[in-house]
Amino acid sequence: MSNGDFETYFHQRARRFSSFYRSESVSRSLGRGPLFDRLTKAVEMCKAASATRVLDVGCGSGPLFAPLAEAGIHVTGVEPADNMVALAKKQADAYPGMIDVEQKGWEAIDAVDQYDVAVALGVFDYVTEPAELLGRMGRAADQAIGSFPSPGLRTWLRKVRYGTAGVGVYGYPVDGYDDLAARAGMVVLEKVPLGKAGFIVRFGRKQA
Ligand SMILES: C[S@@+](CC[C@H](N)C(=O)[O-])C[C@H]1O[C@@H](n2cnc3c(N)ncnc32)[C@H](O)[C@@H]1O
Repeated sequence: MSNGDFETYFHQRARRFSSFYRSESVSRSLGRGPLFDRLTKAVEMCKAASATRVLDVGCGSGPLFAPLAEAGIHVTGVEPADNMVALAKKQADAYPGMIDVEQKGWEAIDAVDQYDVAVALGVFDYVTEPAELLGRMGRAADQAIGSFPSPGLRTWLRKVRYGTAGVGVYGYPVDGYDDLAARAGMVVLEKVPLGKAGFIVRFGRKQA
């Protein structure tokens, strides 16, 4: 299960959060560069995996849609928050036939082998059962990509800020990814630092 107010929080702040993607230079000057770094890296990883179908878990307003669709990759975005879904659908309209948006939470993802890669950017931060999420991603696709905040001052400050809205924020120690992967039936294939913000990690299914 996700923590209680995770969906509501982003429903209420959909426009504000999506506005971070309007100008990379402005966002970088405000310390939000890792949002762009993780997008760029996730797209590179999808291309390197020769993906043709990507599942974008917690797609938000759809910042991954354009770069993936322009690379000829079909995207299914999964997102529960009404206002985020509205923004994502608008974004999807620019790429007819390339993007589907499904309104639901990751807890309802039951797909098996329907995708090449499942991506979750800025989602594990708020999830109380990360191995359950990663396990669902790993059943839906051969590879899974997630961004993970490092524990430390930056994450602690977010914990305080989001905590006032009833949303938990979780940091992930760099030596914990192998254990997380094992609990989800996967292995770590690659981990790339996102400055001080954390890591983007690519997982593959554990071979029997
Ligand atoms: C920090 S935003 C990241 C959005 C997008 N992936 C990005 O990189 O901009 C987290 C997103 O997860 C969504 N979310 C909340 N509860 C969720 C759930 N149970 N399953 C999937 N996504 C959820 C939020 O509504 C929000 O859009």
